[in-house]
Amino acid sequence: MAKPRVICTRKWPARVEAELKARYDVTLNEVDVALTQDELRAAFDDYDAVCTTVTDKVDAAVMAAPGRAKLIAQFGVGFNNIDIEAAKKASLIVTNTPGVLTDATADIALTLLLNVARRTFEGEQMLRAGEWTGWRPTQLMGVSPQGKTLGIIGMGRIGKAMAKRCFHALDMRVVFYDAFPVADAGVPAEQLATVEEVLAASDFVSLHCPGGGENVHLINAARLAKMKKGAILVNSARGDIIDEAALVDALNSGHLGGAGLDVFEREPKITAALTKMHNVCLLPHLGSATIETREAMGMTVLANLDAFFAGRELPTRVV
Ligand code: DGY
Repeated sequence: MAKPRVICTRKWPARVEAELKARYDVTLNEVDVALTQDELRAAFDDYDAVCTTVTDKVDAAVMAAPGRAKLIAQFGVGFNNIDIEAAKKASLIVTNTPGVLTDATADIALTLLLNVARRTFEGEQMLRAGEWTGWRPTQLMGVSPQGKTLGIIGMGRIGKAMAKRCFHALDMRVVFYDAFPVADAGVPAEQLATVEEVLAASDFVSLHCPGGGENVHLINAARLAKMKKGAILVNSARGDIIDEAALVDALNSGHLGGAGLDVFEREPKITAALTKMHNVCLLPHLGSATIETREAMGMTVLANLDAFFAGRELPTRVV
């Protein structure tokens, strides 16, 4: 029997690609350039399963009349790049890769928090530019996280992993907002009733909710104004959660003390003003970027493909 036809829209870790080749009639993306919308639409005609990533815009036009595809297997936990209603209309099943990137993403959120609090990236830039003239008592003084309050927006797996790090390693107090009651946050933490209450109570705010839908611009000018003066905002979730123009204003006015961003509103475009600010640490969407994590994400996609083509229940089905 012919093997199912599968396409990966981007290059994947070598170990996962080898497994894919062994099990499927797979088309890999050797050059690692994103598919055009026309190429993506054609993939739904020519392949049984389309393996997407966050950089693919899987919209209604692309899925309008899938000739052959029955499955979208997303390489990633977030799926706001996929129009889920359109997928349902086209009878396409969607899977994602939750669980395996929790620690890696929380590590990046923690990295951003510490980098901004301790101004490490400013120091490194100074050093590389040959501008360091030696130790001084008042040079690049940051703020200590110990004893401060961390506010988490979205207390899912990654939010809890961030809370664990900040509570145990940094002696921080934790408060959080989640749309649903959270019975066990994993560490002592207080669930507050509104996003505003969390923003007002926190010295550091870390975003861990999904992007898209009602969370677009959840952090807008009005909510930024609720944050404490000098507070630091960290985003390792999705760029569209923050209104970047409002963030620039809040940083320019000195209301916010700094920001650490791994994701951006118009990724991969970066709001130019952010790149010029000394108190903003910018990373290129590195949340899940460890070899262990990316392999685990690929293996989760494979588990979904295997289950789908064997007619078994899908391990991590979205719809
Ligand atoms: C995800 O999985 O949603 C990340 O943003 C990409 O790894």
